[in-house]
Amino acid sequence: MTYLITGGAGFIGSNFVKHMLSKYPEAKLIILDALTYAGNLGTLTEELKNPQITFIKGDICDRQVTEQLFSEHTIDYVVNFAAESHVDRSIENPQLFLQVNVLGTQNLLDTAKKYWTEGKDDNNYPVWRKGVKFLQVSTDEVYGSLGDEGYFTETTTLSPRSPYSAAKAGGDLIVQAYGETYKMPVNITRCSNNYGPYHFPEKLIPLIIKNILAGQQLPVYGNGSNVRDWLYVGDHCKAIDTVLHNGRIDEVYNIGGHNEKKNIDIVKLVIKTIHDIMENEPEYRKVLKKQEVLADGTTDISWINDNLISFVKDRQGHDQRYAIDPTKISSELGWLPETFFDKGIVKTIYWYLNNQEWVEEVTSGDYMKYYEQMYGNR
Ligand code: NAD
Ligand code: DAU
Repeated sequence: MTYLITGGAGFIGSNFVKHMLSKYPEAKLIILDALTYAGNLGTLTEELKNPQITFIKGDICDRQVTEQLFSEHTIDYVVNFAAESHVDRSIENPQLFLQVNVLGTQNLLDTAKKYWTEGKDDNNYPVWRKGVKFLQVSTDEVYGSLGDEGYFTETTTLSPRSPYSAAKAGGDLIVQAYGETYKMPVNITRCSNNYGPYHFPEKLIPLIIKNILAGQQLPVYGNGSNVRDWLYVGDHCKAIDTVLHNGRIDEVYNIGGHNEKKNIDIVKLVIKTIHDIMENEPEYRKVLKKQEVLADGTTDISWINDNLISFVKDRQGHDQRYAIDPTKISSELGWLPETFFDKGIVKTIYWYLNNQEWVEEVTSGDYMKYYEQMYGNR
């Protein structure tokens, strides 16, 4: 089987590539990624040595690129991760989000339609090559924001509130339109907040880890009471694999692990976990950028405490709470999350402590400008 994985050099896409390579060593994986600030080939150094992988640097909006790719490879599945993914950036530049998340998705759909269909049936519908499928990786944010009660199900009305989520909802709708109008075999998955290795440090958890290690303030928007429903990235990848191979055509599947946390509680937990690691395994203190040597020759860690927290101006239109009801994917396809948050967050923190070179690489250059611009005036 040949899989086209767009956005495969980003956070979830790269974790998915790693998952697929280890689970299906015979599969051919074509990665299409524009390598924006969020895409990093350093994340795939080992994988790119594998002859089963072809990497193409290109834009999902570029018809020439997608045509060439479909004409050169017999693709069976498309898994579309490629997107502009950060809500704060969408508030600064909404048009880019519409361009990539809506028009890029439509370009991929249309190219796939051209190469996956052979003539028309009696009702004028395209005849699709057997076994092909387009899976759109979407988000719980398309459902909008919840109050204290309730969960998003697959039948919850779409009510996106940020330019990012509006663009993702637009992408979902055009996928559904191709499913209805052309009978294209599609699935949409809508997942809650992911965390884990290779998460770009503009997002809450990796940003907090990075700032603690640097002895910098931890910017918490508003009063920190907003709730997100966190899922370990590896569990998300397994869910996508499950839907891709077993999901009923045209269906939407929500993915989440019933793991709601207030932002402020996450931040405090990360502070405490890093402090505990530094206390119990002093060899990790060398990773700290803030080095103050005490009289006994050890590195001071007393400053790793809640005083690092800084409540800053809230995100505009900040969604209060997300919470996924994953009953459908669990009962229909047997998927269940495997990584409990208390274990997953510790695993993630160790990953960052052990992979500071990756963090340095992805946050050099433009990231510093972004950080100054985004947080300098909060
Ligand atoms: P990311 O920003 O880390 O990665 C996005 C990748 O897409 C990058 O490698 C980037 O270079 C690439 N890309 C961007 N524009 C492109 C273009 N025009 N053409 C080709 N490639 C392009 O994002 P992520 O967090 O890995 O999210 C992946 C997908 O999953 C997105 O569609 C996102 O909406 C969705 N999602 C993310 C989360 C989450 O918590 N991170 C949760 C649910 C759904
Ligand atoms: O729910 C799924 C979505 O989760 C995905 O579709 C998005 O691609 C992904 O970026 C993520 O969106 P969020 O906006 O929830 O993630 P972020 O990490 O940006 O923020 C998480 C929460 O933390 C949110 O309530 C805003 C808050 N926050 C974030 C940052 C970056 C802060 O308080 N301070 C910060 O510096």
